Amino acid sequence: MGALGLISPEDCLAYYRAWAATYDGGFAADMDYRLPAHVAAAFLGAKGQGPELGPVLDVGAGTGLLAERLRDMGFQGDIDAADFSPDMLGREREKGIYSGLHQVDVTKAIALPRAYHGVVSSGTFTAGHVGPGALPNLLAVALPGAVFALSINLRVWTGAGFDRAMQDLADKGKIHDLQLIEAQVFCAAAASVDADHAGDRAAIAVFRAD
Ligand SMILES: C[S@@+](CC[C@H](N)C(=O)[O-])C[C@H]1O[C@@H](n2cnc3c(N)ncnc32)[C@H](O)[C@@H]1O
Repeated sequence: MGALGLISPEDCLAYYRAWAATYDGGFAADMDYRLPAHVAAAFLGAKGQGPELGPVLDVGAGTGLLAERLRDMGFQGDIDAADFSPDMLGREREKGIYSGLHQVDVTKAIALPRAYHGVVSSGTFTAGHVGPGALPNLLAVALPGAVFALSINLRVWTGAGFDRAMQDLADKGKIHDLQLIEAQVFCAAAASVDADHAGDRAAIAVFRAD
């Protein structure tokens, strides 16, 4: 899967320009891509019966698969999309699931028109994509006590320093109640399509902002 070998933000944008049209029907269907469903379930599980119904920010929203799974599971609040690829945002616009579409690079300080009760992400914290340096930028757009559910591919969990970054945020009291839930990124059908990545696993980091 070439997406995990991307080196620069420019490479990443060019890759998604080409991939946006076939992402759902090709990659996600062929690989039986389950991560958005796991993140949606982890997020809704962590919110429990709390009063917060949104808004939620979907980080690296892509074509909107995570928002679709949240809707499938009954989430009715507003969901906004953040993605730096105009081509992926174009697919989201066609689907009409999001209340707001924001073209932003989450590795830099983000200015958005509102703050969030929830922040979710699937498939964006991975090799060739977004590293732990983005976490403070996301905390900056979260309301106090906001629930986060972010997938982090285990290929980069230690090497990119997510383990240290999460521990540091917890030690400084910026995040609370950190839980890591392991999940398969793909299902069995992926083995015949891309044996190198079929077994990929992710940690879903679930926590509350201070
Ligand atoms: C593998 S796709 C995941 C899309 C969707 N969340 C899913 O699970 O299908 C990664 C997404 O992250 C976006 N992305 C990569 N780097 C980014 C950055 N620095 N800021 C915002 N979005 C970024 C890409 O444009 C792409 O849409």
